[in-house]
Amino acid sequence: MIVVGKIETLREQLKALPRPLCLVPTMGALHEGHLALIREARRLAGPRGTVAVSIFVNPMQFDRADDLENYPRPLDEDIASCERTGVDLVFSPEAGQMYHADHSIVIRENRLSGLLCGASRPGHFAGVCTVVMKLFLLFRAEFAVFGKKDFQQLAIIRRMVRDLNVPVEIIGHPTIREPDGLAMSSRNVRLTSAQRADAPIIHRALAAAADLLKTGERNAEPILAAAKHHLGKSELLAIDYLSLVDAATLESVAMIHRPAILAAACFYGRVRLIDHMELSP
Ligand code: PAF
Repeated sequence: MIVVGKIETLREQLKALPRPLCLVPTMGALHEGHLALIREARRLAGPRGTVAVSIFVNPMQFDRADDLENYPRPLDEDIASCERTGVDLVFSPEAGQMYHADHSIVIRENRLSGLLCGASRPGHFAGVCTVVMKLFLLFRAEFAVFGKKDFQQLAIIRRMVRDLNVPVEIIGHPTIREPDGLAMSSRNVRLTSAQRADAPIIHRALAAAADLLKTGERNAEPILAAAKHHLGKSELLAIDYLSLVDAATLESVAMIHRPAILAAACFYGRVRLIDHMELSP
């Protein structure tokens, strides 16, 4: 496995690596969810193709300095996990490699980015789009795999690729959960043991509310009320948002006539966790 930090070296190495190339962009602190993305990347690239993982904690997408500072960075462990999982190349640049001190170009999506997570994290998706576009331009990958857990991120990246005609196929991979239902996230390690024990309530609340669909409920109000009631049983979390949105437009819906998403973001102290359920009428 090749590990590179410099863009120039990456470009040299990429010339020699076989195609197709499948890229898995990450911010490191790799867990089983990331490893599932890497396995999917191998399936897409084939045994003779190239699987590349980028590990870069992108300062531009953090809206809070403490979140950026406390984001876990176990680089050696991450590199070992990549090696074990059959990755061919890891790109792990310093911030100075990715951004010139006077960088002044930003990729901003203007329709989906102000909703849900974008409403509470100003500038977040512009940071994501800018770094992901840079990675697409550097790697010129045939495929790129992203987790569906960040469904808004995935929708925005798909929109960017569509609107800017970026020649890459975007693959979404289902959320991987801990045995108790908590969606895997690099932020889970920052929870205290009490918060970690409590956190599966997010998935349980969304699942219980989504179950109302099976009884024929199509109205958003009782579904949201059920989820809120369930989340209210936790004394440790604070709801950032709880929304029922159209799966394509991410706009709030009052009735479910088309595929929808029940999404939540919750704070445990300063740690923000997100999760969602897909609802089909
Ligand atoms: O999902 C993430 O880990 C990040 O937002 C991404 C896509 C790697 C961009 O920094």
